Amino acid sequence: MKIKNICCIGAGYVGGPTMAVIAQKNPDIKVTVVDINAARIAAWNDKDLNKLPIYEPGLDKVVEEARNRNLFFSTDVDTAIEAADMIFISVNTPTKTYGQGKGMAADLKYIELCSRQIARVAKTDKIVVEKSTLPVRTAQAIKSILHNTGNGVQFQILSNPEFLAEGTAVQDLIAPDRVLIGGEQTKEGLEAIQALVDIYATWVPLENILTTNLWSSELSKLTANAFLAQRVSSINAMSELCEVTGADVNEVANAIGKDSRIGPKFLKASVGFGGSCFQKDILNLVYIAKSYGLNEVADYWEQVIIMNDYQKRRFASKIIQTLYNTISGKKIAFLGWAFKKDTNDTRESAAIYVADQLMEEQANIVVYDPKVTADQMQSDLNYLNTRTEEANATNLTTVLDPYEACKNAHAVAVLTEWDEFKTYDWQKIYDEMKKPAFVFDGRGILDQSTLESIGFHFYAIGK
Ligand code: NAD
Ligand code: UDX
Repeated sequence: MKIKNICCIGAGYVGGPTMAVIAQKNPDIKVTVVDINAARIAAWNDKDLNKLPIYEPGLDKVVEEARNRNLFFSTDVDTAIEAADMIFISVNTPTKTYGQGKGMAADLKYIELCSRQIARVAKTDKIVVEKSTLPVRTAQAIKSILHNTGNGVQFQILSNPEFLAEGTAVQDLIAPDRVLIGGEQTKEGLEAIQALVDIYATWVPLENILTTNLWSSELSKLTANAFLAQRVSSINAMSELCEVTGADVNEVANAIGKDSRIGPKFLKASVGFGGSCFQKDILNLVYIAKSYGLNEVADYWEQVIIMNDYQKRRFASKIIQTLYNTISGKKIAFLGWAFKKDTNDTRESAAIYVADQLMEEQANIVVYDPKVTADQMQSDLNYLNTRTEEANATNLTTVLDPYEACKNAHAVAVLTEWDEFKTYDWQKIYDEMKKPAFVFDGRGILDQSTLESIGFHFYAIGK
């Protein structure tokens, strides 16, 4: 079975870059990415590649090559579904904010809406691919919706979770550690798996394309994110112990990372992990475990989130305590708002929670981030509902120049590890700050001895 026409529902952080790379590598397949968000689709179609809706290094080049050749962005969901042989579902699956499982379970309403739309529109057989991260056994629900249309159309459902990380999405897509494809172990299921393998095999070595049954594939995605987040919480837990014992968390991470069984990656102590995936996916895992009555399993993974929340609070408390237990009316400069460098995404960014805690103490926060807009910062704060929108707008402002952010500040806090922060003229920043001048490095990127020799009082996590 040779796929000629792909539709992807959801033009977000996953759907956009993933389909751009599939289209780039398969010029003979027509790929149409659809979304109900017209502004987002317009931005994907913008002639000015700087206006693409998401910032990812290298993405502009890929889009430039494939767009309007065999890559298209559209709001016409029905037409794209009808024309496709293969449909990727790449819509958001946020944590539920209502009803049963509120605050834990994944909200699958967008997945169900897509499934019903496919069921309604499809007139020819289709392979439906779960690209979104989903609770294990969701394929069963999708199958039940699709198979009850009564119009004789045959559907195969595959699970093909996405492992890209933001900030390195294009690199991760072009050279993935592995591609995972799960499907039914029947003749038709195996044919559908092979059709998707063929698409990836145009650029991914076959030994890096793993095929499994549906449930293993669905569960592997949640498991991978849980393991990754667990490493960050583990090193963050050690960071506090380092601070009280005189050990240095970077030295400890380096020492344990040399053990080939542990490995050196994902051991950077920080102000806490953010991003749209880790918290949501672990909470979802905890919910699933509880729903099967596996309370010890649920408690084990929940601790990763508890530790992460604690790390964010601990960083904010450190700032308050160090500034003589009063920050009311003090200016605190934030360098960075994104949840990690090289992305404009702020979902669950630690900066939001640290800012909120400091604002409760009536600090004035001035933020500089190279990619995040002032509107986005305000919307992140307003979403928390801690205080009025007016109070948020008064107490947290955004500037376009890092030196202006730091001028007359009592303290500078580094919340994102943007490379440019390391290259600043820290003497100039020091000269223009209130004294004593404090730096709180939540990402371990600044050189402590250089800053201390300038005169800063310096705090880094885990030292
Ligand atoms: P996103 O919010 O950026 O994009 C989802 C898009 O789907 C939105 O633009 C939304 O308008 C659209 N949409 C929702 N319902 C729709 C419908 N019925 N019809 C058409 N469009 C619809 O989300 P994302 O970050 O791309 O994540 C998508 C999925 O991929 C999630 O399940 C997430 O867990 C998973 N994932 C995300 C990442 C990541 O780094 N962001 C990595 C791996 C997996
Ligand atoms: C993550 C997974 O890595 C990816 O495979 C999955 O598809 C989506 O979720 P992402 O959230 O985009 O990707 O970025 P990631 O690089 O994993 O970072 C997540 C958070 O952990 C960031 O806030 C980052 O700063 C933090 N982190 C990461 C640390 O604090 N220390 C580390 O050592 C690594």
